[in-house]
Amino acid sequence: MSYVVIIPAAGSGKRMNAGKNKLFLSVQEVPIIIHTLRVFDSDETCKGIYLTINPAERDIFQELLTEYKIQKVKRLIPGGKERQDSVYEAVKVIEEEGIVLVHDGARPFIRTNTIRELVEKAAEKKAAVVAVPVKDTVKRVENFQVAETLDRSSLWAAQTPQAFHISLLKRAHEMAERDQFLGTDDTSLVERLGIPVAIIEGEYDNIKLTTQEDLYFAEAIYLKRERRKEEDHV
Ligand code: C5P
Repeated sequence: MSYVVIIPAAGSGKRMNAGKNKLFLSVQEVPIIIHTLRVFDSDETCKGIYLTINPAERDIFQELLTEYKIQKVKRLIPGGKERQDSVYEAVKVIEEEGIVLVHDGARPFIRTNTIRELVEKAAEKKAAVVAVPVKDTVKRVENFQVAETLDRSSLWAAQTPQAFHISLLKRAHEMAERDQFLGTDDTSLVERLGIPVAIIEGEYDNIKLTTQEDLYFAEAIYLKRERRKEEDHV
């Protein structure tokens, strides 16, 4: 089943402390955003990529897309102040009907199989998210004191991609704007409409590159995957 994808890439990456958009940093000598784009560019069921960017970085993005021969980017859309604003700008210009994915530019390790499974689930249920069970015990903290220990058996960490019927994602963003609701992901905008969101179990490898040490993990994940590919070809 086909889909389009919104990739927000307009962040400043403050927590990475790189002095530039973290998506331009390289893993194995290829910029992070190119790793992410390649996954969708090479997936034949992906019908188009809507990339939200900081307008001041338009030329850099254009050059990267040309250099790495990325074919499916339909639009470079100026992003907004928060991630949610950036996604909304893309939602407003989408022309297609059907299924839309939202996937962070900073998650380069998503696998095509997971995308396929997610798209099927969203087609059936209207909204679905990739998530993994949390490994740590999670505490709610107030003033550096434990207020509560949460029941881990029901806790999952939400990742991206998150997938929706396009009309539902549009409505969720419109309602969030109307109510001035700011969420940290897109399914939270759908959840508040009372619409159930299905879960697909993803992989712990699908990390979001956020802080400096994530670059070290990213190199390791990349090398592991390259080794697997070589073993598969023996
Ligand atoms: O900062 P964080 O890694 O959580 O952001 C997730 C994704 O959202 C990144 O790919 C980032 O570039 C993007 N983003 C955006 N517009 C913003 C903030 C973040 O497109 N205003």
